Amino acid sequence: MPNLPVMEPADIVVFGGTGDLAMRKLLPALYLRDRDGQLDADTRIVAVSRSGLDDADYRDKVDSELRRTTPAWTGSTCESDEVHETFLRRLHHVTLDVADDDWSALADLLGPPEGRIRVLYLASAPKLFGRICVGSHAHGIVDDASRVVLEKPLGTDLASAQAINDEVGSVFSEEQIYRIDHYLGKETVQNLLVLRFGNSLFEPLWNAGQIDHVQITVAESIGVGGRADYYDGSGAMRDMVQNHLLQLLCLVAMEPPARIDGEGVRDEKLKVLQSLRPLVGPDVVRDTVRGQYTEGLVDGTAVPGYGTELAESRAGTPNELTPSDTETFVALRAEVANWRWAGVPFYLRTGKRLARHASEIVVQFKPVPHSIFPSFGEEIPPNRLVLRLQPDEGVRLHMTAKQPGPGGIRPHPAALDLSFARTFGDRLPDAYERLLMDVLRGNPTLFMRRDEIEAAWRWAEPVLNTWAETDQKPRPYSAGGHGPASATYLIERDGRAWHEDY
Ligand code: BG6
Repeated sequence: MPNLPVMEPADIVVFGGTGDLAMRKLLPALYLRDRDGQLDADTRIVAVSRSGLDDADYRDKVDSELRRTTPAWTGSTCESDEVHETFLRRLHHVTLDVADDDWSALADLLGPPEGRIRVLYLASAPKLFGRICVGSHAHGIVDDASRVVLEKPLGTDLASAQAINDEVGSVFSEEQIYRIDHYLGKETVQNLLVLRFGNSLFEPLWNAGQIDHVQITVAESIGVGGRADYYDGSGAMRDMVQNHLLQLLCLVAMEPPARIDGEGVRDEKLKVLQSLRPLVGPDVVRDTVRGQYTEGLVDGTAVPGYGTELAESRAGTPNELTPSDTETFVALRAEVANWRWAGVPFYLRTGKRLARHASEIVVQFKPVPHSIFPSFGEEIPPNRLVLRLQPDEGVRLHMTAKQPGPGGIRPHPAALDLSFARTFGDRLPDAYERLLMDVLRGNPTLFMRRDEIEAAWRWAEPVLNTWAETDQKPRPYSAGGHGPASATYLIERDGRAWHEDY
């Protein structure tokens, strides 16, 4: 690990401080940055929730949750480990219902910012975002130097996203707002920028003249489980495509930014979103597939279908048996209508309860124009650049090489393989570690600007509307498979195939 800079002293205030995101992602990430010496001795982490816990209860809760979920926590020596103690001492808990007027406990604990970096991390329901910002301002907790981090989902459509942005924007300027998409904090995703713009090799080939198509797959083997209630109001299009997959598409498709800074990168991503060919009416029917998992086998274990999980999570309510049309899988064919990408399809696919947990970006180049190797026929496989986001992060360039030995020239598929684990050895930090430090250092490059979010909704909304209007039901697919058959047809009808080698 290189020498890491120590961040300025800060107050990190987590609204939703006892929730799943705080326990599974934020606190482990902060602990790991603390362990590596990046948090100043004076930095405090203040959790806000309605739970009624005091500081000691909260510290106990965090200790036991991290013991359960975070190998790095249990991997350290024992309870008396100084690093654990130091981290736990930073933690405070304030009980607050943000709808109430009495914010005195939080205001007293924090005091006025007085030049200190203060970060409000909103890991709570988006409908509370505006109220939290307004309340924090009214009670003197924030000033012009404070920052606010907004977790997704940011709205369920363009209008609701605009309403949240307006409310938050009534207190904070755009420079103070950090809209998180944790995919942008993933090492392999950042590496896409370096791969494209730190090497001269790919950029001359990165266009419609040389690239046949691009595939972006984010496959999960988990189901919706305990999140069924949230998920049912969202679905894969809102939960994954509108944000994570479109952000990946932007990084693949964008022009070289003038600088690697907040505005440079975000300006270029915005242009991609604005260039997406709208999918409306018949395009939606032709170019999108949505699915919903039924029961099946994942890794040899029998798992229930989505409807059962949803009914279980709603047991006792009248909705219990209402079938849901929420999609847990989406595949679609998008196009970036500009000079660089004219005619190059971008196939996007994501789903829950698929065969395995694997995400990748595949850039497929055009085939050689003419084969001179008769033994290989016309079928020399085209070059393919595969960026594996997870698991086994790395980059693989599929090539054709001569099979060694006598017997004439026998071309054979072979791959140049860059495994991050083998090459760099270090543990790859979780996306939240990087992104939280970026907020403290005031670097917005890997966060989404308001215009980006709204452009993404402008493109996604007609798809959602058409699904609702045409009553096009999600296609069932068995848990543990590759999604509905129509997703295979979506790409095969273009004479192409999904890359299933992950
Ligand atoms: C979240 C979605 O944003 O991303 C989840 O809400 C999804 O539904 C998760 O499971 C996937 O993230 P990762 O980092 O595990 O690929």
